Amino acid sequence: MRIAVAGATGHIGALTVAGLEGGGHDVVLISRSLGVDGLTGAGLDEALEGVEAVVDVTNTAATDRAEVVASFGTITRNLLDAEHRAGVRHHVLLSIVGLDRVEGNAHYAGKREQERLVADGPVPWTIVPATQFHDFAAMVASWTERNGAATIAPLLVQPIAPSDVADILAEVAVGEPQGRYPDIAGPEPQDLVDMARRTTDVRGHRVRLIPSWSGLFDTSMAGNVLLPGGRARIAPTTFDEWLAAGAP
Ligand SMILES: NC(=O)c1ccc[n+]([C@@H]2O[C@H](COP(=O)([O-])OP(=O)(O)OC[C@H]3O[C@@H](n4cnc5c(N)ncnc54)[C@H](OP(=O)(O)O)[C@@H]3O)[C@@H](O)[C@H]2O)c1
Repeated sequence: MRIAVAGATGHIGALTVAGLEGGGHDVVLISRSLGVDGLTGAGLDEALEGVEAVVDVTNTAATDRAEVVASFGTITRNLLDAEHRAGVRHHVLLSIVGLDRVEGNAHYAGKREQERLVADGPVPWTIVPATQFHDFAAMVASWTERNGAATIAPLLVQPIAPSDVADILAEVAVGEPQGRYPDIAGPEPQDLVDMARRTTDVRGHRVRLIPSWSGLFDTSMAGNVLLPGGRARIAPTTFDEWLAAGAP
């Protein structure tokens, strides 16, 4: 199959491209650094010629709520319009578990906008909601690190390995559109502060971690809010196995 990955140079995108190519598929890579911009639409029509399915794993660096919603919204609209023109028959969106349970977070507002546009859009779709990735804790700590210390919210999560996310996206992309896919998650719940400590240790990075609700994640995300639903698909790779592999 000819499959496009939007966000192909990103963390999940690169793994998804590798998985699809390993399965013998013809993969079209979409990202601004490769000359195709979902925000302006430049290069999209050419990139989608002959494409049957698109996997959207784009992201935005914006943190302002209106900016995040505008950015995810514009990329999604441009992608769906171009897919419609090209006759693409399956749009796969990577989303986040628990979006409707978290009102305040800007990134979640942007992801809800993506989901709304995809569900109301002209291309048959599958939305895959994932929990936080195994590398999420260290990434969050890096956002606030100053003078050897970082704050991090003590969230309860059930993280999933990035490679498992990519495997599931590749599997979904070659199949029929399924609408809302079950939540995907890793095998075990974890405490985000502990995850960050163990990841920075394995990576040999010395930083003092201070549990706090003062950052981007507030107490509306505490408790079971971020955990997967009962029908979840549980991916195999544990957080410990990912750490043992060097926390890639
Ligand atoms: N981190 C988590 O724990 C987690 C959990 C669940 C779901 N997710 C979701 O997973 C998705 C992917 O995350 P990630 O960490 O893999 O992202 P990432 O590493 O930041 O990669 C983002 C990709 O999108 C591309 N991109 C950004 N703006 C673009 C534009 N205007 N046009 C075309 N391409 C564009 C980037 O390339 P260029 O910069 O070259 O354009 C890059 O290839 C996100 O939507 C996130 O919400 C994340």
